[in-house]
Amino acid sequence: MKDLYERVAEQVGRVVVGQEEVLRALLGALGVGGHVLLEGPPGVAKTLLARATARALALDFGRIQFSPDMLPSDVTGSQTLRGGDLAFRAGPVFHALVLADEINRTPPKTQAALLEAMQERQVTVDGVSHPLPDPFLVVATQNPVEYEGTYPLPEAQLDRFLVKVRVDYPAEEEERAMLALARDGLDPAGLEDVEAVAGAEQLVAARRAVGAISVTDEVAAYVVAVTRATRELPSVELGASPRAAVHLLGAARAAAALAGRDFVTPDDVAGVAPSVLRHRLVLRPEAELERYTAEDAVGTALGSVPVPR
Ligand SMILES: Nc1ncnc2c1ncn2[C@@H]1O[C@H](COP(=O)(O)OP(=O)(O)O)[C@@H](O)[C@H]1O
Ligand SMILES: [Mg+2]
Repeated sequence: MKDLYERVAEQVGRVVVGQEEVLRALLGALGVGGHVLLEGPPGVAKTLLARATARALALDFGRIQFSPDMLPSDVTGSQTLRGGDLAFRAGPVFHALVLADEINRTPPKTQAALLEAMQERQVTVDGVSHPLPDPFLVVATQNPVEYEGTYPLPEAQLDRFLVKVRVDYPAEEEERAMLALARDGLDPAGLEDVEAVAGAEQLVAARRAVGAISVTDEVAAYVVAVTRATRELPSVELGASPRAAVHLLGAARAAAALAGRDFVTPDDVAGVAPSVLRHRLVLRPEAELERYTAEDAVGTALGSVPVPR
C-alpha cells in the first residue's frame, strides 16, 4: 500500500502540487471501501486531484455536478423506453471513481439517492437492483458551512463518509510551484501524461493487505473508548456512532498500511480520529457560540482516554 501510494503520488504530482493528505485519504478509502468528503473553497484542485488519481489508478471517472433542480433519477438513472421495451438507463453514479461536486447544493432526496448508492453499492429502480462497479469510490465535495442557500447534509448522511478532509489553500511556495507547471492556456497541460501505475488487481491486493493488518485488543479497546468519549462530552449533543468506531478502525488500518506497517498503533488511531470523527458530531448551541468546534471536541475526547502502551 505504501508502495502503491508512492507510485500514484509520483503521477498525480505531475499535475497537482501538494495536497498529499487528500491523496492519502482517497487511497485509504479505496483500501477499506469507504468514501471521502472534501470540504474546501473552489479552485484548490479538488477536481484535478480526483481526475489525476483516477487516471493513475486506471479507474473509470465520472463527475456529477449537483444543482438545486436535480432529481434522484439524475444520479441513479431510470427506466426508459427503448424500442418499445423498458430498459435501465444507468445514471452518472455508474463509474468507479465518482466526483460528486457540491452535494450541499441539491435537495435532501437527491442527496439521499447518492448516499444510498454509496452504502449499498447498488442502485434499485422499480424493484430491480443494478450493481455499481467494484471498486467504487465517491469523492463528494462541499463548500465550508458558512455558505448560505445550501442544503447541509444531515448527520445521519455525513456518518456514511469514512473521512472528511479539509482542502485548504496551498502554502505560498506551493502556489508558486503551481504556476511553474506546464499549462495549456489556463488549463493544466499534462493530465494525459499521468500514467496508469496500478489497476484493479493492485487495488484488490491493497484492500486485502489492509484487511490483513493486525489489531491488538488494546488498540481495539482504544478505538471504542475514543468513540464513546465523544458521547460523554458536555459540549456535544450527538456523539459518534458505532459505525464511526468501525470507520475509525478502518481508517487507522489504512493509515498503518500507508505507513508500510502490518499492525495498527494507537498513534494511527489518534492521527485519523479528527478526519474520521469531526463531521459526525453535533455540538450544543452554547458550545458553538463559544467558538468551540467539532475538531476541539475530538481533541478533548482523545485527551480524556488513556493511550495504551
Ligand atoms: N495544488 C495545485 N496544483 C496544481 N494546480 C492547481 C492547484 N490548485 C489549483 N490549481 C489550478 O487551479 C485549477 C482549478 O482547480 P480545480 O481542480 O478545478 O479546483 P476545484 O475543483 O477545487 O474547484 C486547476 O485546474 C489548476 O490549474
Ligand atoms: Mg471542482
